[in-house]
Amino acid sequence: MDCVIKRLVFLVLCFVLFQVRRCLPDSLTVNAIHDDGPCMDHTKSYALERYNPVKIGYVRTIDLGSFGQRRMITRALKPPIFEIPDFLTEDECDFIMKQAVKQGLKSSIAKGGLSPKLMPILPENVTGKLPPNEIGGRFEDWDQNNDDVIDILEMMKFAKNKHLLFLSKDDILEMIEKLNISAAKDEHITKMEFEDANILGIDSYFYKLHRLHPKHKDRYSEQTWVKFGRTANKTMTRILKRVMKLTNLSSYLVYGCEEMQVVRYQPFGHYHAHFDSETHTRQNVPCCHQVHPDQRCKICRYITVLYYLNDNYKGGETAFPVADNITLDLESIQNREERDIFNLNEFCHAANFIVKAKKRGTAIMWYNHDIDYWNGGWLGDLDGHSLHGGCMVTEGEKWIANSWLPAPYYYNSDLRSMFLNRFEGSATAPMENED
Ligand code: OGA
Ligand code: FE2
Repeated sequence: MDCVIKRLVFLVLCFVLFQVRRCLPDSLTVNAIHDDGPCMDHTKSYALERYNPVKIGYVRTIDLGSFGQRRMITRALKPPIFEIPDFLTEDECDFIMKQAVKQGLKSSIAKGGLSPKLMPILPENVTGKLPPNEIGGRFEDWDQNNDDVIDILEMMKFAKNKHLLFLSKDDILEMIEKLNISAAKDEHITKMEFEDANILGIDSYFYKLHRLHPKHKDRYSEQTWVKFGRTANKTMTRILKRVMKLTNLSSYLVYGCEEMQVVRYQPFGHYHAHFDSETHTRQNVPCCHQVHPDQRCKICRYITVLYYLNDNYKGGETAFPVADNITLDLESIQNREERDIFNLNEFCHAANFIVKAKKRGTAIMWYNHDIDYWNGGWLGDLDGHSLHGGCMVTEGEKWIANSWLPAPYYYNSDLRSMFLNRFEGSATAPMENED
């Protein structure tokens, strides 16, 4: 009898331990590809909805109201990524692109913590030495093989290690020419020459290349925001209602979404891998969608819906470098010296999952965050697997649009989204049960 009780206690303990492990945050369960259960109690209702991806290639039919039914295909499990062909009509794609052109597009700024912020004043034609306590200030920082000269290859390595730049030999020669580094005209800088060479000029040249050059920037595209809301065109209202059907989120959350961001990439256009949500870099500030625009905040985007508005370009794939990784150690991928998987100009095709929409109007949808099932099912931890970006466009122009659906953490779940204000005073605010 005693033995039976012991066994029972042991089994119960195992079960509890198993549950706890499955529900621990990602950083502790890096080996697990988990679905919604068993932390999710199917008898309870949760604030945020989420499709079970089931398996890669799984096809379900979704009902998009008066727009009809569409196929939704699972493309990845972690994060769950779905493809929905024909989510927008060609006319809708045209409308969005035209609207963006009418409004005017402006140069985009990279988000998602790719590199430290741009200095307010860019170094302009500076010359001189770098202080010895700064990387690059000492000869040894450059001379990797200790042969007492810095050659072109070592300059390329320095540019990569310190400035995350992938430069060719010709790029370095161009730099030597432009900055008129006479010591390096023979393609070497000796230890003696280093003392008087314009190392500060070289370092700030690299800094500027990373921040300003179309090929080397973290993001090279132009964008504008096309509005939803009271004054919006009917097309936008129709799309918003369709997004509600697609995501199954409450109208309160969907109508509180951000405006539609329309993005145009010219040749060389790209957006290195990033997170759409900023919750990992700014933990102690409120979510942007819940505060006034001038307040310090972080972007809390639960879902991204990305629309492909055209298809007549080359390159420009959307890449998810670590989707479905069995193990994911975000800290080790941040070490970009070894293998810079963030740089999608170099590593686009090394990504675990790549999308290239065959036909305009296709949408993809994914979850940037887990759900906090312990606390009513509000926004959970950022899912590190959702790292993604746009590879370089090699020919033509690429047009996409983003709908971001922010969600609150449980402790702020009673704070409404500021974006709901756009429907205020509106007799035509989209109703929950309309489609
Ligand atoms: C973005 C983005 C990917 C792409 O705009 O945030 O990730 O394929 N874009 O353009
Ligand atoms: Fe993105």
